[in-house]
Amino acid sequence: MVEVDPSGVPRHVAIIMDGNGRWANRRGLRRNAGHEAGEEALFRTVEGALALGIRDLTVYAFSTENWRRSPDEVRFLLEFNRSLLLRRVDELIDRDVRVRFIGRRGRPVPRRLVELIERTEDRTAHCRRMTLRIAFNYGARAELVDAARRTAEDLAAGRLRRIDERALAARLDDPRMPDVDLMIRTSGEQRVSNYLLWQAAYAELVFTDVLWPDFDETELARCVAAYQARDRRYGGAEDRPVGPPDAPA
Ligand code: IPE
Ligand code: IPE
Ligand code: MG
Repeated sequence: MVEVDPSGVPRHVAIIMDGNGRWANRRGLRRNAGHEAGEEALFRTVEGALALGIRDLTVYAFSTENWRRSPDEVRFLLEFNRSLLLRRVDELIDRDVRVRFIGRRGRPVPRRLVELIERTEDRTAHCRRMTLRIAFNYGARAELVDAARRTAEDLAAGRLRRIDERALAARLDDPRMPDVDLMIRTSGEQRVSNYLLWQAAYAELVFTDVLWPDFDETELARCVAAYQARDRRYGGAEDRPVGPPDAPA
């Protein structure tokens, strides 16, 4: 059993679901089998997040850099994500989970996937218990460039008086997304890979060696417990003497 303090649950958890390819290769399977196995991990994680009372869960499904993978893997990932949405959105609606997407929706994302993304957002728009955001064709730099462009356009058109943090934040892919409290990366890699650079400015980072297809409710609870042991200071500081003073006052 993992002890989680119900009063200190992070509001927004973001996950870099990594390690699918290695999970598959270690079993003598092709990388795509790892992506398939990641589907159950995602649904276990949604269940775990609901049980813990997490309000916002954002998962990295496909990055703007992932187009560099083999045509076979890219094709598989596009089709796999589409089929996942088709097959499993009803389960999310049953659980009162709203689904939203962040990331660029233009080319080269296939038109029929974009249509399904939009339909999924519409169909789950009434759900309230948790918001599951899926980062697809997402890169934080692209998101910031797009936000900067919108800000400049609104300034030029007189819709905005000055550029500040609030103005830029309001022009990110999903302005309603709260700041990230806890960012988890699986598979032992310790990097951010262009994920939520603005929103995770003060996130606590937790890395686990578990490969994504093996991730589950217990591992999520472990990551939350690790988060709860942290001291979030946001740049502030206070004296907390623990030993004898260096010199008498
Ligand atoms: C994460 O697993 C899934 C995606 C990036 C789509 P990987 O495919 O990156 O798996 P590894 O890191 O190669 O093991
Ligand atoms: C980050 O994982 C992107 C997703 C999980 C979708 P990668 O496996 O693509 O990241 P790098 O290449 O190791 O940085
Ligand atoms: Mg990877």
